[in-house]
Amino acid sequence: MTNSAATLEHFERQKNILLTSYRRVGTPVYTPVNIAVEGEHAFVRTWNTAGKFKRIRHHPTVEIAPSTVFGQRTGPAIRARARVLEGAEAVHAGQALDRKYPLLQGVLVPMIHRLGHYRTIHIELTPLDDLVGRTVLITGATAGIGRTAVIQLAQRGAQIIIVGRSEDRGRQAVADISAQSHNDQVSFLQADMGHLESVRRLAQVVRQQYPQVDTLVNNVAGLSPTRQETVDGLEATLAVTHLGPFLLTRLLVPLLEEKPIGRVVNLMSGTYRFGSLDPLTLEPSGPYRGFDAYMSAKLALLLTSLELARRTQGSTLRVLLADPGGADTDTLTVSLQPGMLSARMRLMATFFSLLVRRPGNLERAARSSVEAVTSTDLMSGDYLKANTRPSQIARVAQDAAFAQRVWAASNRLVGLPDDLRVSETLFSTQE
Ligand SMILES: NC(=O)c1ccc[n+]([C@@H]2O[C@H](COP(=O)([O-])OP(=O)(O)OC[C@H]3O[C@@H](n4cnc5c(N)ncnc54)[C@H](OP(=O)(O)O)[C@@H]3O)[C@@H](O)[C@H]2O)c1
Repeated sequence: MTNSAATLEHFERQKNILLTSYRRVGTPVYTPVNIAVEGEHAFVRTWNTAGKFKRIRHHPTVEIAPSTVFGQRTGPAIRARARVLEGAEAVHAGQALDRKYPLLQGVLVPMIHRLGHYRTIHIELTPLDDLVGRTVLITGATAGIGRTAVIQLAQRGAQIIIVGRSEDRGRQAVADISAQSHNDQVSFLQADMGHLESVRRLAQVVRQQYPQVDTLVNNVAGLSPTRQETVDGLEATLAVTHLGPFLLTRLLVPLLEEKPIGRVVNLMSGTYRFGSLDPLTLEPSGPYRGFDAYMSAKLALLLTSLELARRTQGSTLRVLLADPGGADTDTLTVSLQPGMLSARMRLMATFFSLLVRRPGNLERAARSSVEAVTSTDLMSGDYLKANTRPSQIARVAQDAAFAQRVWAASNRLVGLPDDLRVSETLFSTQE
């Protein structure tokens, strides 16, 4: 495993490198190869039946280290993403290798490939350790979109703390994520995000044990088919989807604001635009229906995120919204249960669920969260869709006066003062 900052500089003059690729089960395979470096990209050549080519196609994260011609490692390894090149990009990579090794790669290797009737393959390697030094706390990442996003962030070197309700599921998720990302800086904290005392305890543990956290991803959401009340007397869908994340955010803002790149990333759902809520209770009017409560909770989360962005203007903290689009997860399954949706929404949701059940849907859905955590170009308040570009927020969430009322109600419901600048000790449990 590696955790040093990535650069290809010390590979530029290197004749041979040790390439580590991984079998499906995660076992490493080491191969010495030639490498040509161009800025932040490196190129290697192989052939279509080579084991490393097959392994890289299944698992594009590799490690590279300087080595002798026989594969004896001579320097530190870095993590990189491998991409198989086609067309003009492959020709370009081939020329770079031919220039660096005129006899070996320019003449001998292509000749061997031709004689063996192999197809020559060019692979680009890009360093992946750009998140070394970053620490991401993410709720609800034992499964679904959060888990997929976390694997990608861990592959790029971030330290990760995942939050979920079950120690067992947490332990299993940490083992799986570490194995798939080859990053051992993954840990788990147990908390129920719908239980305010549990959220306060979580914030306290984070402040004491992980003061280096620079990014909070509120990925968790809850959907309850019938109206349930939490131990705090709050409607459960609202509590898990909005109030728990809201409380955690407020308790961690002082910590995040100290960081040069502090971030809060809140997971959205495009359905917020159908949400409607009472600015005092934050619940929709009329008889309870699970998906209405979810859409309204997402609207409340969006309004308070934008209010937080306004209140932290001028600080280094960025508040970002990540909309995953859709993915085939437990949340989607629960939302299709009887009693969750009106007849019209049910029709739309059934069609939507068929659309999102495509291979790679989780990876696509995780894109907006990964981009929100990693991009340096975003402004506080930006709303990212799965295409990872900031997009327009619907009018229902643009009313700043309404956002202030929802901010005030959210504070009242979680027992906090309105003012963001009030000392955190006022609302912490005994530390
Ligand atoms: N899936 C979609 O189509 C879709 C579309 C739009 C937006 N989104 C949003 O994307 C985010 C992720 O959704 P998903 O579909 O990936 O969810 P998911 O697969 O259902 O995963 C939910 C995660 O939340 C955790 N969790 C649930 N209740 C919790 C609680 N009370 N306290 C702590 N953790 C809890 C679960 O962990 P444990 O069970 O281990 O606690 C699990 O890791 C959500 O914000 C959702 O609203 C999803």
